[in-house]
Amino acid sequence: MDNQRHDPDTDIYDPGYVANLFDRCSPRYRWWSAISSFGFVAIWRHQCVQRLVAPKSTDPVAVDLMAGTGEVWPHLLRRFPNLRRITALDISHRMHAEAVARLHGRYAHKINHIESDALQSDLPEAYADLVVSTFGLKTFNPEQQRVLARQIERILKPGGCFSLIEASDPKKWMLRPIYRFYLDSVLPLIERFLLSGANDFGMLGTYTRNFGDCARMVEALEAAGLSVTMKSHFFGCATSVAGSKPPVARPTRQPTCA
Ligand SMILES: C[S@@+](CC[C@H](N)C(=O)[O-])C[C@H]1O[C@@H](n2cnc3c(N)ncnc32)[C@H](O)[C@@H]1O
Repeated sequence: MDNQRHDPDTDIYDPGYVANLFDRCSPRYRWWSAISSFGFVAIWRHQCVQRLVAPKSTDPVAVDLMAGTGEVWPHLLRRFPNLRRITALDISHRMHAEAVARLHGRYAHKINHIESDALQSDLPEAYADLVVSTFGLKTFNPEQQRVLARQIERILKPGGCFSLIEASDPKKWMLRPIYRFYLDSVLPLIERFLLSGANDFGMLGTYTRNFGDCARMVEALEAAGLSVTMKSHFFGCATSVAGSKPPVARPTRQPTCA
């Protein structure tokens, strides 16, 4: 069944298109994603952060790629209270604005917002001890995933860790037809009735179907030189990929001439 919900001539992976889509979703993003996933998104964010290994630095820096409204920050700060800074990168102006509007005073000073395309980020090399991303992969096609993997390798410090999670298509799950029916038909219908005929969140079903799971991101990260392991969450309804950048190799001592 073709559940295409967009003009076939539209490039749904164009960063401008994606930014506009999330600009429109932004006012309702938090509650809609929590309710429509029956709270699973919060569990998955927690599990994603749990996969990060504690950095050796005493005041580490984390980068939250495709940060949206910053839902992962409380999880990050609970796990790593000594984080010096979270650099939150997102392409959507309104997702940033929503995040700023609801920032809790207690840790607002730790968040540094950057509105930019993660594929072209000019964050310095070896900038971050940790890189995290929750539900920000599905809007990248395979070539873009390769670019993103190289960006992650570039901005991580040697020995730094990353963890990324994304909603996935549980191809082997017995209940997949019900899950797909829910994503592809029920959610868009609810959206149309409750959200003035909008069809923005409805696109997430299309992205998830095309994305499949994190397997291609695993290949891309390995090709970029990172060590990687993939994990399945709740029968494959989400998959995560976590790993690290190899520490700097110690220079081997060359024999000296007498
Ligand atoms: C589904 S939301 C996830 C937000 C948040 N991380 C969370 O856990 O709820 C995906 C986010 O990725 C952002 N995004 C998509 N493509 C991007 C790109 N090329 N560069 C930066 N951000 C991007 C969108 O603007 C959106 O805020």
